[in-house]
Amino acid sequence: MKITIEPSEAAFDLAAAQRIVNQIKEKKNSVIGLSTGRTTGNMHRKVVQLHQEEPFDVSPTTFFGVDEVVGVPREYAGACYTMLRTELADGLGISDEHLLMLPTQSDDYPAACRQFQAELQARGGIDLLILGLGENGHLGFNQPGTPFESTAWVSKMNPELETRIRRETGLPEEHPLGGVTLGLADIMQARRIVLVAKGRHKAAIVKKMLQGPVTTDVPASILQRHPDCEVLLDSEAATLIGQEVQEVQGPSYLAPFLSMVFLFLVIGFLTTVNAQLQGPLQSAFLDRVGSLRNTLATLVTFSWFLAYPVCGGVGSRWIDRYGYKGTLLRGLGVMVAGLALYFLSSVYTVAYPQSALAVSDVSIPPGFFIFLLGSFVLGGAVTVLQVVINPYLMACHVNGTQPIQRLAIGGSANSVGTTIAPYFVSGIVFGGVALEQVQVSQLRLPFLTIALLILLVAAVLYRLSLPDLAGTRAADAPLERSVWSFRHLTLGVVAIFFYVGCEVCVGANINLYALGDLGLSTSTVTLMATLYWGLMLVGRLCGSSLRSVSPRAQLTFTTLMALLMLVLAVAFNQPWLLVAVGLFHSIMWGAIFTLATTGLGHYTSAASGVFMTGVVGGAILPLLQGAAADSLGAWRWSWLIVLFGELVMLSYALVGSRPKEKAE
Ligand code: GLP
Repeated sequence: MKITIEPSEAAFDLAAAQRIVNQIKEKKNSVIGLSTGRTTGNMHRKVVQLHQEEPFDVSPTTFFGVDEVVGVPREYAGACYTMLRTELADGLGISDEHLLMLPTQSDDYPAACRQFQAELQARGGIDLLILGLGENGHLGFNQPGTPFESTAWVSKMNPELETRIRRETGLPEEHPLGGVTLGLADIMQARRIVLVAKGRHKAAIVKKMLQGPVTTDVPASILQRHPDCEVLLDSEAATLIGQEVQEVQGPSYLAPFLSMVFLFLVIGFLTTVNAQLQGPLQSAFLDRVGSLRNTLATLVTFSWFLAYPVCGGVGSRWIDRYGYKGTLLRGLGVMVAGLALYFLSSVYTVAYPQSALAVSDVSIPPGFFIFLLGSFVLGGAVTVLQVVINPYLMACHVNGTQPIQRLAIGGSANSVGTTIAPYFVSGIVFGGVALEQVQVSQLRLPFLTIALLILLVAAVLYRLSLPDLAGTRAADAPLERSVWSFRHLTLGVVAIFFYVGCEVCVGANINLYALGDLGLSTSTVTLMATLYWGLMLVGRLCGSSLRSVSPRAQLTFTTLMALLMLVLAVAFNQPWLLVAVGLFHSIMWGAIFTLATTGLGHYTSAASGVFMTGVVGGAILPLLQGAAADSLGAWRWSWLIVLFGELVMLSYALVGSRPKEKAE
């Protein structure tokens, strides 16, 4: 059996549709059998779309349904006939003459089945059969226990489907229902079979049918004996099959994957460098601002994260217009511009040491504002890059990995960047001098060097071939509705708002807390920040090996633990306990992103942009916390803001992340 694993649901739908289109194009008068259900709906619609984009002749083709519901009107929305008609046949302009179906109502089913088989034979027999897979292993309506020799017949239904149909149609218990279906022997007669399965809920049965024994307990296992059967899966449905099976599969996007991982490191590094500059900049620029010291210092982080809501949409539009690679290169260009502004802020302040802008009763050097602008531009660059990197990491399949693992590996690289950043700031940028002796001129050389490095990275990426990811862009198909109408995505944006807010509050403000409230030394607070980011790294490295724990369970556990640490930290006024929160923050990004974008298909690139708007939490929460600390006169109780954020994430894990579309 050939196994094909597609990196995303959208790529899966497209690949499945292409199997049908190619069959129609390759052989006139093809006879193609189709299955209905959640797996195949988008695939059928995709066939119609491909046909509209580039018309081909479907008039000689015969389509037929593998099975049909017995005991309901044919017009019922859950009848296979009506599904195939609305999803496919109407769009292709196919008459009932070319859409053969078993009857939903008949006085003599055996005769109807014989007639159906004869009709298929008369048209040359089955060329291609697309089969869905029941969660209990059923094929068509052949439930576990069906003999392999069975030919077209009326079977019982699986109980869940029967309950759903009774609920939807209002048919009473005494009204008999069933499923009329090609038998397993008929199915094995098809010249070619493509079994399709997508989604995590199919992973267990996929493993059983592929790697378990051939047994009537798992009707689909009979396909192991078919001479020309392909099993087409998305990466979620392939989760549990052994690596030895996955490893023979392509394509594997290792080089693009590693590039994204490296860029994630750069992003983490610059984000934390920026946050770590708050302390030194407070000392270098803000010695004449009185009671606004904390509020103004936290503006450095604020302007960085403000860029996320502003630029998230830009990232999505660029992907649609310039593709993933074009967007990456542009993002890196913007990054160099931001670094140039840091450089300029230093040059200006050294050249005009006395100039100052009076804001109410405080005076601030203009160089500080240039720095804030640089921070905003860099934040914008990082936003655009992340809009590309997150879906890319999820979608670019690398043998032996799952999407959430790849996000965790990206996250680990991000953490390597954040972990080295505090030492870069205190040891390299400011050469280990005490906070009071920090000079603005020290900002120049390091940032110029980084800018040159980024240009080098851009040159390498320019030469590297980065495949565009099929079916993930809004440009691949028109968006029929607003991406905000997916409730689990919208609430995911809220969750990511609080996640990033909490992550940055601890990462950026732990320094100001330990310095201001507790008078700890610069080297101790640098160590705290490094350990916080370092624990995030440890957590992400461990997280990348968590193949089998669901993102929901991961998010529930980690938010609960973070809550515990926060309560203890506030109760005992103990910043070291906040350091431990890093461990639990580590896998939250990946878990929330995965939960929020599950099942979004060609909405994925738009969703990824929308998702980035939530990152503005990194601007707002730390600033709020700074203002709270200024007004309370100390940082200790301001951590309750973070505590609240963790509660919101916990509720997302438990309730909000369950897909349910908002009423339109
Ligand atoms: C249903 C249908 C099958 C279909 C299967 C999978 O009962 N009779 O033809 O292939 O179950 O459905 P889904 O794709 O919704 O999981």
